[in-house]
Amino acid sequence: MTTTIMVNGLEGVIAADTRLSDVDGERGRLILCGHDVEELALNVSFAEACALFLDTNAAEASAALARGRLLGFDRLSRIGDALDAKDGMDALRAAAAHLPDNAAPLEVVGALATFAAAWSRRQAGQPPIAPDAVAEHATDYLRMVRGSAPPDAARALGAYLVTVIDHGMNASTFTARVVTSTGSDLVSAIVAAIGALKGPLHGGAPGPVLDMLDAIAEPANAEAWLEGELAAGRRLMGMGHRIYRVRDPRAAVLERALGKLEASSVRPSSSGGRLTLARAVERAAEGVLAKRHPERALKANVEFYTAVLLDAVGLPRTLFSPTFAVARAAGWCAHVAEQRTHGRLIRPASRYVGKMPG
Ligand code: COA
Repeated sequence: MTTTIMVNGLEGVIAADTRLSDVDGERGRLILCGHDVEELALNVSFAEACALFLDTNAAEASAALARGRLLGFDRLSRIGDALDAKDGMDALRAAAAHLPDNAAPLEVVGALATFAAAWSRRQAGQPPIAPDAVAEHATDYLRMVRGSAPPDAARALGAYLVTVIDHGMNASTFTARVVTSTGSDLVSAIVAAIGALKGPLHGGAPGPVLDMLDAIAEPANAEAWLEGELAAGRRLMGMGHRIYRVRDPRAAVLERALGKLEASSVRPSSSGGRLTLARAVERAAEGVLAKRHPERALKANVEFYTAVLLDAVGLPRTLFSPTFAVARAAGWCAHVAEQRTHGRLIRPASRYVGKMPG
C-alpha cells in the first residue's frame, strides 16, 4: 500500500473499532460502554464500572480488584527501590514492572492502587497501610493513602475514578494498544501506558492546576495572572483538548461530585473556597484564551476540576497523576483485551525528510 496521508499528531485518524467509549468533541458527550459519563460516574462504583469494561460482573470485579490490592501489598517488599522515586509516576511505572505476567487485568489495576498509596505514604515518611479485602475499591484506596476514608469523600473519589476510566484513543491508551499489537504482555502495556500518561499534555496537568489556583489565590487576580502565563509562552493547565471543542463533559461531572461533597459535613474546610475560585479562574481562562485563539475553542478539560476534587478528598497533589493511572488502568486493560481480539500490528509510516546518500 502506498502511504499518501500525513497527519501530524494523528489527529482524526481512526486506529481501531471499539465498544468501550466514544468521545463526541463537538457536542461534548462521552459514552462509556453504552452509558453517558454522568449517569455512570454518579451512580456506580468503580468495580461496577470495571465489570462493564472487562465483561464480568460487579462481585467478581470487586474481588479481583481486592486480590490485586493484596498482591500489590505482598509485592512491596520485593520491588527494590521503586517507591523511592521522587515522582509518583516514576514510582508507579517501576513498581508496576514488578507485577507477575500472569496477573489478571483487574488484579493489575488493584495492585496499582496499593503501589500509589504506599508511594505517597513513603514520601511522607509513613509506613504503608495494608489493604482491606472486603472494602470498596475507592474507599480502600483513600484509606490506604490517608488512614481513613470518610464515606462522602470516598464517594467523590469513586465518581472521579469512574469519570476517567476510559476516553477513546487517548495517548496512553494508544500506547497500551501499540505494545499489545506486537504480541507483548499486559504488564508491558501498562508500564508503557503509565509512561505516556505522565506527560503534562496528558495526565500530568492536575497538580499544576492546583499550583495555578494557589498562585492566583483570589478571583480578582485571575485575568492578570493568566495573561502573564500566556505572555511568557506557557500553556494554561487544565484548559484545551485535542477532541473537545466545547467544555469537557467530565469537568461538569466532577463539578457536580464536588458540589455533593461540599454539601456534606465531612468536607475539608478549604474545598468550598477552592471551588468558587476554580469557577472564577475557569471563566477568566476561557476569556483570555478566546482573545488569543479566536480560531480554536479552548475550554476547561477534565484536569481542571480533577485538581479541586482530589484535593478536597484529601489526596496530596503529588498523587493526582498516579490516581489518574489507578483509574485509567482499567480502561487500558479493556483496550488491551480488545486489541488482542480484533487488532493488527500497529505500524504507521513516516516520511523521510533527511539527507539522501551521495
Ligand atoms: N493554553 C494556552 N494555549 C493553548 C492551550 C492552553 N491550555 N491549549 C492549546 N493552546 C494553543 C496552542 O499553543 C496552539 O497555539 P499556536 O498554534 O499559536 O501554537 C493552539 O492552541 C493549538 O494547540 P495544539 O497544541 O495544536 O492543540 P492540541 O490538540 O495538540 O492540544 C492539549 C491539546 C490538551 C495538549 C492542549 O490543549 C494543552 O496543552 N492543554 C494544557 C495541558 C492540559 O490541560 N492537559 C490535559 C489534557 S486532558
